Amino acid sequence: MPYQQILADARSHSNWIVDIRRQLHRFPELMYEEVMTSQLVRDTLDELGISYQSGIAETGVVATLGTGESPCVALRADMDALPIHEETDVPFRSEVDGKMHACGHDCHTAMLLGAAKLLRERESELPGTVKLLFQPAEEGGAGGKRMRDEGVLENPTVERIFGLHVWPPLPTGTIGSRTGTFLAAAGELKITIHGKGGHAAKPHYCIDPVVTSAKVITELQTIISRNLDPLDSGVVSITAIHGGEAYNVIPETVQMSGTIRALTMERLHWLQDRVRSLTTHVAAANDCTATIEFPGHAYPPTVNDGNVWGSVQDFAGELLGRDAVHEVPPVMGGEDFAFYTEQVPGCFVALGIRNEEAGCTHNVHHPLFKVDEDALPIGSALHACFAVQTLRNLSEA
Ligand code: NI
Repeated sequence: MPYQQILADARSHSNWIVDIRRQLHRFPELMYEEVMTSQLVRDTLDELGISYQSGIAETGVVATLGTGESPCVALRADMDALPIHEETDVPFRSEVDGKMHACGHDCHTAMLLGAAKLLRERESELPGTVKLLFQPAEEGGAGGKRMRDEGVLENPTVERIFGLHVWPPLPTGTIGSRTGTFLAAAGELKITIHGKGGHAAKPHYCIDPVVTSAKVITELQTIISRNLDPLDSGVVSITAIHGGEAYNVIPETVQMSGTIRALTMERLHWLQDRVRSLTTHVAAANDCTATIEFPGHAYPPTVNDGNVWGSVQDFAGELLGRDAVHEVPPVMGGEDFAFYTEQVPGCFVALGIRNEEAGCTHNVHHPLFKVDEDALPIGSALHACFAVQTLRNLSEA
């Protein structure tokens, strides 16, 4: 089995992959600041003798293997960390206060470098080109969009794309994905309620933005429960609220922020319109005004191509066993891998990393999030198998 050989080789490189992952884990960098991470990627590619372009989307790197001609497939990893203070007890825990690889992007980068090593060892057999995309700023910075806009899917044109995300609900040795929409369209929300501040003893001379904000938050709950079709899916969450400094002063304004999610862009925009209308009217009914913003780039839904997922199921089934490959329901998490699949048929796959005995049970974005590193060579092998299998299919078509 060629796939089994790729997995066996990946496992023989386990220490090499894990060592890279741990180096990245100790020095997490936030979006568009992935300077050391990008350097480590380039140093490793140099060591492997693989050519690349850097400085794409600031810290992004695109490596190229194979013939340099069509057909061409892309494998993608994200490199950024989160502003979370790590609380795990691993010996390679974050050495930067307040920053942590709590979404596993250190693993994604290490697994893709593992795939680079595997593909380099069989480069002469590749019937086309493999691009390895190391991108910045997945966590809200739309690094994937910038990479795409800077042309990483061109010259030669990428025809299929593959990405992996470590997935705490699934045990190590298994994967999951689905045909169609897998992850949500997601956007940020900011609301400012403007009232009239003053002495808290004389509320009748003020217009209280605190009480009005409480009403706005409560009313926003009715969008999902009363306006959205019960068979459709959406999220409207207010996650932060700031207003006032003193116990005896009614503040002038209150700021709130949160997230809006849906399974299509049309539904996301509809939810944004409802949030704007409802907030404006609740504020007006209380003599306040409201400023409503949707900052940054809303991420489109991550939509998998059924044929690409079908071919992943085939080789992953051979590699891991049929029972280890799951069709899973969509989730309301967002992913900027979506910007690539807007343009190219692709598949985003959840890689099982759960291991109760090793304490790898917490979800991503949690200060106690831990990864079962036995999953890392599996991820590298899946990347490499995708490239080999897909180039073979495309060149025979
Ligand atoms: Ni992530």
